Parts: sequence; C-alpha cells; structure tokens
Amino acid sequence: MSKTAIITGASSGIGRSFARRLAAEGYNMILVARRESLLNEVKEELESQFNVSAEVFLADLSQLDDIRRLEEKIAQTPDLEFLINSAGYGGGWDKLYPDVDPDFTTGMITVHCIATVRLSRAAAEVMKANGKGYIINLASCAAFGSYPGAANYTSTKQFILSFTRNFAWDLAKTGVRAQALCPGYVKTDFYTTKEMLPATESYKKIPGFMWLDLEWLTKKSLETIKKHPRKVVYVPSLRYKFFTWLMKKFF
Ligand SMILES: NC(=O)c1ccc[n+]([C@@H]2O[C@H](COP(=O)([O-])OP(=O)(O)OC[C@H]3O[C@@H](n4cnc5c(N)ncnc54)[C@H](OP(=O)(O)O)[C@@H]3O)[C@@H](O)[C@H]2O)c1
Repeated sequence: MSKTAIITGASSGIGRSFARRLAAEGYNMILVARRESLLNEVKEELESQFNVSAEVFLADLSQLDDIRRLEEKIAQTPDLEFLINSAGYGGGWDKLYPDVDPDFTTGMITVHCIATVRLSRAAAEVMKANGKGYIINLASCAAFGSYPGAANYTSTKQFILSFTRNFAWDLAKTGVRAQALCPGYVKTDFYTTKEMLPATESYKKIPGFMWLDLEWLTKKSLETIKKHPRKVVYVPSLRYKFFTWLMKKFF
C-alpha cells in the first residue's frame, strides 16, 4: 500500500529533515516551498537514496490562491498519511508596535496561521476518511512567553499552539493525530533569511548548549506523535521543558 507525506517548508531546515526521515520510512513525498532549485535538489536526494517518488509543488503560502491550490492537491491525495506544516520565518523583532509594517504582519499571519489552519483542515478530511493520519504543526518555544518586539512571531506561534491543541480534541475519535511541535533554537537557514538579517548577528551569542540537533529533533517529534497520541503539545528536550516552564511563570 502506498502512503504519502506532504511537507511545507521542505526546501530547508526542519521541513527538509522531516522529508528525509519520512522518505526513509517509505513515504512518497509532496515537497512544498517557493525555491524550485532547492526542492528539486531534495527530490533528487530522496528518490536516489530511498525507493520513493517525490513531487515538487511550488507555492508561496503568503498567497491565498497558492494555499487553495495546495488544498486541492491534498484533496486529490487519497493515501495522505502525514502533513507537516513547517513553512515559516522569523523577524520583525527590530520594530515595536505601532512601527511595524502591516504588510509584514499580514504575510506572517497568512503563512503561519491561515496556511496551517486551512491545510490542516484539508488533510484531516482525507485522513478521517482513512481512519488514520498525522499532522505536525511547527509552533515554537517562543509561544510560551511574551516580550518586546515579538508581537508578530510570538503571537502567530501562540495561535498555532492553541489551534493545534483544540483541533486535536475535534479529531480525538477519528484516528487522526495532531502535534504542535515547539522547538527551541535549531541551526537552520531560519537565522539568515532576509526577514531575520537585522538580528542574525545576535544569534551567534547563543551558547552552544541551547541549540537543538536538527536530526534529533525530527526523530523525537515523529516518535512522539506515533507513541504518545495524547501528547499534543511537544517541547523537545528537558532543558527546553524547564525553559518554557520559566517563560510561562515569568513572561
Ligand atoms: N530554527 C529554529 O530555531 C526554529 C525554532 C522554533 C520554531 N521554528 C519554526 O520551524 C519552521 C521551520 O523553520 P526552519 O528552522 O526549518 O527554517 P528554514 O530553514 O529557514 O526553513 C523555512 C522553510 O519555510 C519555507 N517558507 C518560508 N516562507 C514561505 C512561504 N511564503 N511560502 C512557502 N514556504 C515558505 C522556506 O522555503 P522557501 O524559502 O523555499 O519558500 C523553507 O523551506 C518555521 O515555522 C519556524 O518558525 C524554527
């Protein structure tokens, strides 16, 4: 029996690591992002290393038309077993309200919140009909606090966390599981995107022990969603469990 995984943000970082892991488990892939050359690189890597097929699906998830096209693609994927919503970016920390760019805010809300909700819904419909499936939404440890300059990023990640928690209740009796994955710092291109450039240098000061290993992170996330259906909010590592406890208490 064939099985398919759809991964947004598959051209880089956490999404790309999930793609490698799921291809190794025999999932055919639909790889979603904007950068075609990188997606083709991932496709070639997966098809040559694992006995799977991979399809590149170009989409800018800040655009509603592209979100709708991907919803249609999901509806046409009857063997869909995994959806990973990893597309996202940071930034905006150099501006405090009201001096933020409202278009930046709209774009981030669309990629992080609107795309996550609409694609999760579309996937749940297919998965519910199959009586099984897994949806992982990338939130962040940042979702547990609030601090100056974070109203865009942190608020969208808080939304993903809250949405996934409530969505999982709705799916409880369907065989479909959901996870809000809340990593701390992970070394990916996240810190060097154009949106992050004003802050890129400051991340070089983060001590080594605060960085999570990318491959370990995606392995633990997949193990957790399969073994612990009730653990909807997943904060990987003891140090970040402690850190998020501190954030909830003091921020
Ligand atoms: N790295 C961390 O420390 C960290 C910590 C907590 C949470 N997260 C979350 O983890 C997720 C993945 O981040 P990452 O660390 O893997 O960063 P990354 O290496 O920069 O990857 C981000 C991915 O998102 C895609 N993307 C960005 N904007 C998009 C858009 N408008 N339309 C479609 N795809 C878009 C990018 O692809 P294209 O540019 O090719 O479109 C890329 O594949 C994000 O949601 C981030 O908030 C990261």
